[in-house]
Amino acid sequence: MAESLGIGLLGLGVVGRGVLEALQGNAQAYEVRCGRRLEVRAAAVRNVAARSGLASAGLSISDDPMAIATRDDVDVVVELMGGEEPAADCIEAALSAGKSVVTANKEVMAKRGPALLDVAERGGGELRYEASVGGGIPIIGVLQRDLQANDVSSVRAIINGTTNFMITAMSRDGMDYADALAEAQRLGYAEADPTNDVDGIDAAYKLAILASLAFHARVAPDDVYREGIRSLAARDFGHARDLGYAIRMLATARRASLGLDVRVHPTLVSTEDPMAGVEGVLNAVAVSGDLIGSVVLEGPGAGAGATSSAVVADILEIAGRLASGQPPRRPRPLDTSPQFALLADIGVRTYLRLEVPDRAGVLAELGAAFAAEGVSIASVLQVPHPERSLSADLIVTTHACSDGAVDRVLAGLKRSSSEIELGVRLRIEDGCDDL
Ligand SMILES: NC(=O)c1ccc[n+]([C@@H]2O[C@H](COP(=O)([O-])OP(=O)(O)OC[C@H]3O[C@@H](n4cnc5c(N)ncnc54)[C@H](OP(=O)(O)O)[C@@H]3O)[C@@H](O)[C@H]2O)c1
Repeated sequence: MAESLGIGLLGLGVVGRGVLEALQGNAQAYEVRCGRRLEVRAAAVRNVAARSGLASAGLSISDDPMAIATRDDVDVVVELMGGEEPAADCIEAALSAGKSVVTANKEVMAKRGPALLDVAERGGGELRYEASVGGGIPIIGVLQRDLQANDVSSVRAIINGTTNFMITAMSRDGMDYADALAEAQRLGYAEADPTNDVDGIDAAYKLAILASLAFHARVAPDDVYREGIRSLAARDFGHARDLGYAIRMLATARRASLGLDVRVHPTLVSTEDPMAGVEGVLNAVAVSGDLIGSVVLEGPGAGAGATSSAVVADILEIAGRLASGQPPRRPRPLDTSPQFALLADIGVRTYLRLEVPDRAGVLAELGAAFAAEGVSIASVLQVPHPERSLSADLIVTTHACSDGAVDRVLAGLKRSSSEIELGVRLRIEDGCDDL
């Protein structure tokens, strides 16, 4: 009988328990598939008493993840604790000890992935992270392996289920931001502190990982331009729809002539765009390459089952490789100092909701401010302000111009008029290019 493979699970939360159940429930099938029996020998949690029911004769539970990461009888460490520390240190220790590691941790992979992959190479083990982006959507392997013959020009993605759920609720049910957030929290899709999701931090981690793979370049979270969804109002979705657009929290990475253009922000996309049809907690990733054209993957971006699907697949890959004696696959080297394009220099179309006094002369003032910066207005719609009787909403869209020119228009309006307030500024995806 082939030797069994010892697994150490760091974390028995939503994903950890899903992985444990899959490994225990499908043990025989997995053994046939990878040629090794997979044995979860130890697991780490913070509150051991609360998880003691999951312990068994062959599985000990402790509150010391580092001890498990370095245990002699653990061959593969599966990190499912989340957060940067102690997760990153445990991963590093396991890799330094020559073990292989599977993680679903986007924060660690976005911030420290390249360094940890180096440690894996030096230690002779492997670091796999399919579940760190898009939950069950197999996008990491697709970029690493299946699309490797392509020169990738762009990745566009909806990679945060919480914000997509909220945006869908605001768009379809007319909820305002606060109600959409409360509903997401009630259903367990948003945390009590939603900052990481609604401010785009989580999506920026994931986009940094995708962009690094797509462009073979080191893209760190701080390289990603980021705006959240807090300033969206329910009425923006109606105005966008009237203009032929849906609003999505889009993560985009593309090769622009000025450098890599990598950003996460709410974006108007055509209602014909496949991204416009991605609703609720679903995720989607579209990759464009010179040979493939465009490929879109859509599916569940979170949840115990979907995420376990990706985590267990990584474990099976490692087990199969070890059973056949093959060496680990090494990632392609990264360009460590790629050129990034500044958003201010990128050509975009813009949607603005401006709150203005409902009086003569305001349009002329606005027109002058746009003209002064050479920003050409494509459409203007004036509608009564929903709450203030003496105010109106002006919905302005521009033709393509540099994002920096719109910055200057808004700064000029702020200086010249205390009565004109910016409600929201959104980029429209078509017509986007360097100017
Ligand atoms: N949830 C999803 O659908 C999903 C999807 C894709 C990726 N992920 C990623 O998967 C990872 C796990 O997410 P999750 O939702 O399963 O998290 P979770 O439900 O909060 O579970 C975290 C687990 O880790 C344990 N833990 C945390 N810090 C620890 C420490 N310092 N020492 C020992 N144990 C510790 C917790 O112990 P206690 O049980 O004692 O609290 C818990 O068992 C994260 O990186 C997340 O981003 C999650």
